[in-house]
Parts: sequence; C-alpha cells; structure tokens
Amino acid sequence: MLQRPRRNRKSASIRKMIQENRVTADDLIMPLFLVDGKGVEQKIPSLPVAYRRSLDKMLKEIAACVKLGLHSFILFPKIPKKHKDKTGTYSYDPDNFYLKAAQKIKNKFPQITLISDVALDPYSIDGHDGIVEDGRIVNDTSVGVLARVAIAQAEAGFDVIGPSDMMDGRVEAIREALDEAEYTEVSIMSYTAKYASGFYGPFRDALDSAPVSDPSIPKDKKTYQMDPANSREALIEAELDEMEGADFMMVKPAVHYLDVIRQLKDNTSLPIAAYHVSGECAMLIAACKNGWLDYETVMPETLLSIKRAGADLILTYFAKEFLMIQKKKK
Ligand code: PBG
Repeated sequence: MLQRPRRNRKSASIRKMIQENRVTADDLIMPLFLVDGKGVEQKIPSLPVAYRRSLDKMLKEIAACVKLGLHSFILFPKIPKKHKDKTGTYSYDPDNFYLKAAQKIKNKFPQITLISDVALDPYSIDGHDGIVEDGRIVNDTSVGVLARVAIAQAEAGFDVIGPSDMMDGRVEAIREALDEAEYTEVSIMSYTAKYASGFYGPFRDALDSAPVSDPSIPKDKKTYQMDPANSREALIEAELDEMEGADFMMVKPAVHYLDVIRQLKDNTSLPIAAYHVSGECAMLIAACKNGWLDYETVMPETLLSIKRAGADLILTYFAKEFLMIQKKKK
C-alpha cells in the first residue's frame, strides 16, 4: 500500500497538524436572556444550560464570559405581560428595560459586540414576530415597526441589529432607517434562512413568547419562517439580504440545517452565522444527563460540525461551557 491514511492519525501531534477546522472563542456568540428586576437568576427547566438574569447578574455573567475570551453576545428580553400589546409598542419605548440594560452593558464592556433581537414576539400579546390583523401576520406594517425598533436599539448602543422576524423587506427598511438616523456604523446580522422549526421550544419557554392559543391567531409561524423541506429557497433569501444591505447572514437552526449553511457559504461572500438553537442544545443535554452520551465529547463535536459545514460564527448556549472544557483540557 502506498497510501496509508492512518499515518496522518498516528499521534496527537500529527492529528493537530492536519486538523482542518477549529472552534475558538472568536467564533462564538453567547445568547443571554434578560429579565427586569434585581438579583434574578432563574433556571430554565427545558434549557438547563441557560438562565434568565436581571441586569446585575447579567453584568457578572458577561464579565465571567469575557474572562474566558468571549467577546460577542446576543441579548433577548423576557417581557412582562403588562407591557405586551397588539403592535408591540414597548419594543421601542425609551423606558424599555432591555434598551436601558444594553446601554449599561456597553458602558461597562465597551469592547464587546452586543447584538440585539428585532422581532415583535416578546412584546406582542399574540406572540407573533409581526403584527396580527384579521388572523394574518401583516408584512409592511410590521416592517415599519421593526425599523423603529432597530433605531431604538441603535440608540441604546447595540453594535449589531439582529432581525429575526422573517418579514419581507425588513433588512432594507432597517438599513435605510439606521442610515437616516445617522447610525451608518451599526451593522445588521440578518436571520436569512430561519426555518419554522420545532426546535425553538425551550427558547419560547424561556421568554414566554410562543404564539398564543386563540382560534383567531395563527398557531404557528409558517407564513413567514421557511419550510424545513426547502433548501434552494434559502438562496432567494440570501440574495435579497445581500442586496438589502445585510452585513452577516444567519442560518437557523444549525445542526439540522448543515446543508443550508454550506449552501450559503458557497453562494455568498458575507460572513455566515449559524444559530445552534435551544432545542438542539436541550436534546444533547438530556441525552448526556441520562448517561447515554458523553457531554464533553459530543458538545464540542457538535460545534465543530457546524464550523465544518461552513459557519464562520456559531450562536450557542454552550459558548461559555465549551471554553471552560477547552481550558480544562489544556
Ligand atoms: C424570535 C426568536 C426565536 C428564536 C430567536 N429569536 C424563536 C421563534 O422564532 O419562535 C429561537 C432561538 C432558540 O430556539 O434558541 N423571533
């Protein structure tokens, strides 16, 4: 035999020399859940790696993450019912605790990248990402509100605006609104190919943001999020986002959509982020808790698979634990 591929696997040193992909702190974006109040650090039963935190605890958590080398965070708010209405007006209210918290986080950690979430679901009594009128999620009116939300977030100090709503034309509307308000340096990370997935369950538990159960309200997000059966359709979304001024593209979920990550990677020059979503993390944790899989092996392997598929960036609830494991192994 002239070719023996095993020669390149014979020692840890050689394996490291030929390693094609690596996950580092620079690739990771840590999602964090914010609640109003003080001293709050609540576990989320369906996502045992994440917590809902009030600002004081959040600042401590960010400090701990920064110490491990993380420098990019995406912040999601859990909005009390009293602030929810039909059109999500609290989303751009100057008194919104999420906006005020962002300002404080950026004051304390000016070096980090803070990413927002633009969608109405945490603020809408209907639990949809856009405005519901006569049983439908109306596109253009929703986009107007979302652009207003983006400006409020830029004003609060977010570095990157993250539209997760999947309305048509929102990236362009947000870009124009930001530029008009002279936030030309604020970036957009567009949820380009976001699927109507069942894997968002624990996230909706965390934020109490699921579509409400009411016969006059659509019970799912299938009229705006993409059909899990489709991959070529992601190319349409990618082409539009590129034209509309996105700075980053995102595929979501990640692990069950590795082919879509690869497809976008091969068809655009923009950086690709992949969202390793709550349900994907939860199923892994559950299997490990049962003793069926080894956490310290399969969790890093999962992140690596997302990277190998072509993601430049990974949003994952495991970001901090991944770096802790890595540090321990060194
Ligand atoms: C809301 C939003 C969702 C997620 C991120 N932003 C849920 C949804 O669209 O219903 C899901 C993230 C996760 O499951 O980890 N627009």
